[in-house]
Formats: sequence, C-alpha cells, structure tokens
Amino acid sequence: MSIVIKTTQEIEKMRVACRLASEVLDYITPFVQPGVTTGELDRLCHDYMVNVQDCIPAPLNYAPPGHKPYPKSICTSVNHQVCHGVPGDKKLKSGDIVNLDITTIKDGWHGDTSRMFAVGEASIQAKRLNLITYECMWKGIMQVRPGHHFGDIGHAIQKHAEVNGYSVVREFCGHGVGSKFHEDPQVLHYGKPGTGERLEPGMIFTIEPMINAGKKDIRSLGDGWSIVTKDHSLSAQWEHSVLVTETGWEVLTLSSGSPPLPAFVTPA
Ligand code: MF3
Ligand code: CO
Ligand code: CO
Repeated sequence: MSIVIKTTQEIEKMRVACRLASEVLDYITPFVQPGVTTGELDRLCHDYMVNVQDCIPAPLNYAPPGHKPYPKSICTSVNHQVCHGVPGDKKLKSGDIVNLDITTIKDGWHGDTSRMFAVGEASIQAKRLNLITYECMWKGIMQVRPGHHFGDIGHAIQKHAEVNGYSVVREFCGHGVGSKFHEDPQVLHYGKPGTGERLEPGMIFTIEPMINAGKKDIRSLGDGWSIVTKDHSLSAQWEHSVLVTETGWEVLTLSSGSPPLPAFVTPA
C-alpha cells in the first residue's frame, strides 16, 4: 500500500474539485421531489458539471477491474440500495430516501461526496437512519489527525452505528482520492482503535459509511453495479473527502448548501 501525500499546490486543486462536487449537490437539491426520475437527476447533474462547472463527471464510463463501464454520471441509491445505484426511469415517490453520489474531475483532480435526501414525507425510521449515518460520518472525521490510525476512524463509525441498532456494510470502504478516483488506502468503516496505518498531514481520503437499518449483508443486482441489502432493509450513506492537516482535519467537500455539522463536532 502506498498512500500519496499531496503537496500544497495539489491540495489547492483538490479544494476546488471537492467544492465543485459539493456544489453539484447544492444545485440538485430542489429537484429531489416526488415524481422526478433518477435518470432526470443524472442528466441535470451531468449538464451542470459539464456545461456550468467545466468538469468531467468521474463515474461516466468508469471501469475498475472486473466491472463493465459505469453508464451514468452520478450514483442514485434508493431505499434498500446500498450504493452504486444506476439512474434510470424509476420515479422517486414520497417516503423514499435516496443517496446522490457525485464525483467531479477538475483540472485532473477528483472531488467525491454524497448526501442523503428524504423525498416528500419520509418515515421517522428513515429520517433517523439518515441522521445517524450522517453522525457516523462525522464521528469518523473527528478521528482524523496526524498520529491517529485508520482503525480509530472505523471504530468510531462502527460504535455509533451499532449502539443505535444499525449495522455497517463491510464490502465497501472509503478510499484515497486525488489524481485518481480510488487510491490507497482503503478506509474501513469498522475496526479497532490503534490498528492500521498512521495518518499523516497531506493525506486525502474519503469517509463514506454505508449503514443498514437491518443486517449488514448485501448482494449485487443483475445490472453489474447496484448493491442492495440482502434483507431489503433501508440503507443510508454520506460521504466527504477529507484532508489530514498538521492539527487535525479539513473537510474539502463543503459548500454553502452543506447541512449543518452535528453539535458534537468541535474544530480540528
Ligand atoms: N462515488 C463512489 C465512491 O464514493 C464510486 C462510484 S463508482 C461508479 O467511491 F462507477 F459507480 F460511479
Ligand atoms: Co468515494
Ligand atoms: Co462517492
């Protein structure tokens, strides 16, 4: 495993790419309403990234080993879909929860972020899952500082999920991000304190826990991409790209429309 340490100049380019990814989510938010199809959301985001931001949507035709090229520009994972939901003709309806995952490429650098949305009136259970998953991501971010270990991040996330009665998906993880979409290291969302590599200033990686209301097990759908919960329970995910600073963390994927930080978050 070799984790790239970004230079000051590279970090500045990552700040731009990451803010743009977050601004795509700001832009699309008012369109996430009952009756819209995930395909329409994909088209709107695609056109915004390409025509307004002058970015490349990283998912389009992305083909990691063992996968056929991803056919769309964003991922839309609805209800029991865990991640990599492929946009299509299905209309969102009131009560659905959906994750929109955006990755921009600006000037060769990747910004990767996702948020959950409740469509129309969602159930108390669905809103609680979205909220606890958001807190899980931030519990992980709060562990980011030089000298801490990747296992500290995973442990904080797992503890908050499980104490609230939820489970952590094991098969997918956060990842280094930079000139490549997916770089070392793998950032697990479960684990033991003090294990794994040490964090160093200049590392940039995502924290993107997938949290299930039921059991942790998943399976993949026939489209070659979409992942769903095996027990059909709801699943939620939030994602930020995070820089390790000299004193702690800097979240790069923030913008004016980012939701407020949980009350337990204190400055790095
Ligand atoms: N954006 C996802 C992540 O957070 C990866 C999506 S890969 C795709 O890592 F091909 F499905 F877009
Ligand atoms: Co990611
Ligand atoms: Co992502």
